[in-house]
Amino acid sequence: MKLFVDSANLSELDQTLARGFVAGITTNPSILAKEERTDFAEHIHAIIELIRHHGREVPLSVEVFTDDPDEMLDQALKFVALFQYNQLSIKVPIGWNELRVIAELRKRGVLVNCTCCMSLNQAYMAALAGANYVSLFYGRIRDIGHDARAVVEQTARAFRQASVPSEIIVGSIRHLYDINDAFSAGADIVTVPPKFFPSMTQHPKTTEAVNQFLADFRTWSAP
Ligand code: E4P
Repeated sequence: MKLFVDSANLSELDQTLARGFVAGITTNPSILAKEERTDFAEHIHAIIELIRHHGREVPLSVEVFTDDPDEMLDQALKFVALFQYNQLSIKVPIGWNELRVIAELRKRGVLVNCTCCMSLNQAYMAALAGANYVSLFYGRIRDIGHDARAVVEQTARAFRQASVPSEIIVGSIRHLYDINDAFSAGADIVTVPPKFFPSMTQHPKTTEAVNQFLADFRTWSAP
């Protein structure tokens, strides 16, 4: 059970990386488009620099931004050459022609995160094509009335039964409880928008206990 950060914001990434629990970072073109307009490559370089500054080379997913399979392959190879980061995963959306891109990238030793998967079939085919990570979109699956938890459960079961080594990333997290739900359904990784992290560390009984300890000690040690 690993937690990734779903963000390209340098200050959010800095805040989360500094707290040591982050096992990876996922971005996508929409997430990047939330940042101040800048050069794409410069921004990814800045993320990599930040990761290195924190002393742990965690996996970083960067998505292609074209729907043409040949261009996807081209972009992916350019990213690998340009960013020179061992833990770089190229995000390729699932699709018939995209499977060819995934298989080709894997043949060349490039790490792949097959993204935008909404069903077992999609996730399973991506895994069989060799994707290292398969990303299921929890919130978006639910948007059309499907049972996201069931999709994660089925996928995790299928991967286990077939001894598929791909890791399941659950993204598109919309609520705090989606995170536990996704883990208990069998996700290996949940990628979380940073706004949820502080609340994940909180519990009313923790606050009560800490306040009580401080108050008791203050009373005991008062002159
Ligand atoms: C996962 O890797 C994606 O970046 C992400 O979670 C997409 O979800 P959303 O567009 O529904 O927020």
